[in-house]
Amino acid sequence: MNLIGKAALITGSTSGIGRAAAERLAHDGAAVIISGRDPERGAEVVAQIVAEGGQARFVAADLGNFEDVKRLAKEAADVDILVNNAGIFPGGPTDQLDEADFDATFAVNVKAPFFLTAAIAPNMVAKGAGAIISISTMAATIGMSGLSAYGASKAALEALTRAWTAEYGPGGVRGNVVAPGPTRTPASAAMGEMFDALASTLPAGRGASPAEIAAAVAFLASDDASFVYGAILPADGGRVAV
Ligand SMILES: NC(=O)c1ccc[n+]([C@@H]2O[C@H](COP(=O)([O-])OP(=O)(O)OC[C@H]3O[C@@H](n4cnc5c(N)ncnc54)[C@H](OP(=O)(O)O)[C@@H]3O)[C@@H](O)[C@H]2O)c1
Repeated sequence: MNLIGKAALITGSTSGIGRAAAERLAHDGAAVIISGRDPERGAEVVAQIVAEGGQARFVAADLGNFEDVKRLAKEAADVDILVNNAGIFPGGPTDQLDEADFDATFAVNVKAPFFLTAAIAPNMVAKGAGAIISISTMAATIGMSGLSAYGASKAALEALTRAWTAEYGPGGVRGNVVAPGPTRTPASAAMGEMFDALASTLPAGRGASPAEIAAAVAFLASDDASFVYGAILPADGGRVAV
């Protein structure tokens, strides 16, 4: 994809899918802002991108902290591409999930993307173009035991994407979603054997690499997706289709 001349903020890009997306967007020519809580991992991602000839800088932010969300929005106000990727997924049966986990899930997965978009989308409209890609999950579409709050938070993100399409689409801003299936990242490594069990239920018969999800992000960020507005793109090995 050709992203030369574009600036992008990828939240949660110190690890996993976000890191792969940042590396891919930088490879395709975008100047990327890496963000997350961990400055050490942030510096490592920046160094790798720069070593490969890309442009990157790190902005630390805890998206569970609203002051940090506002500060990050200010620092990244002029980006052409916003990837709402940072997400947390405390699992467990509904009757065992406590209020703190519920609130943290909605703060990072819904409130932060909402207010980042609120700050950044109007600037994209002023330029007449922009792409907002939010990372959801197949658990937003299918009921999955132990992922109730997580799935609900991502379903909210998908609903926000449709609303943003109505609000900012006429101004040239394309809001879209990538909904991954099980993907091999540090977070999913914690699932142990459950990951392989889940992956084996997909028509693809395996889990994804972060780079495969990043490729879908790069497409939606690029002008190749110029007529794609408000779409939910499953990158889940066929799981929600069957
Ligand atoms: N892996 C999967 O199987 C899978 C499947 C479907 C959807 N997804 C979605 O894909 C996205 C990325 O998941 P992943 O598996 O790549 O996870 P990951 O490896 O744990 O990476 C999560 C990223 O989010 C950042 N992050 C977490 N909490 C944060 C906070 N409070 N403030 C700021 N940044 C925070 C982390 O950075 P720091 O630690 O530096 O803060 C890290 O860069 C999530 O939205 C997830 O729901 C993943």
